[in-house]
Amino acid sequence: AIERTFSMIKPDATKRNLTGKITAHLEEAGLRVVASKRVHMSLRDAQAFYAEHSERPFFGELTEFMSSGPTVVQVLEGENAIAKNREVMGATNPAEADAGTIRKEYALSLGENSVHGSDAPETAAREIAFWFAERDIAG
Ligand code: CMP
Repeated sequence: AIERTFSMIKPDATKRNLTGKITAHLEEAGLRVVASKRVHMSLRDAQAFYAEHSERPFFGELTEFMSSGPTVVQVLEGENAIAKNREVMGATNPAEADAGTIRKEYALSLGENSVHGSDAPETAAREIAFWFAERDIAG
């Protein structure tokens, strides 16, 4: 089925001017960018966005990193977009990512791993709604 998912290009990647290269990977995989904006999120935004991880030991590191510089938040649309995006991103830890994936190519570490993508339909809906109004999305 045609799905929407949420994608984020993280500060380690925007800093290295990789927005275009990462977006090209997504588009080449058949995902369509139907909304996109560059945001420098506040620490509070990062804490709210990643609230599900608030009890994890890396929560402070994660939210400080995500608010340390600009990110590019995007809505992607396509056939099985959620799973396809996760395939193109590769494993969370770049040391475990397959060849040809975004994280294998660009990620620096488990924390500075260049991209985020929704892991399920419910999280995709929540993450899209966190950053975009329906009228910001042109499918
Ligand atoms: P992401 O898909 O954005 O979702 C949560 C993020 O937490 C994850 O990618 C990693 O970048 C980060 N993360 C996961 N585990 C750790 C860890 N042990 N230390 C630091 N960051 C982590």
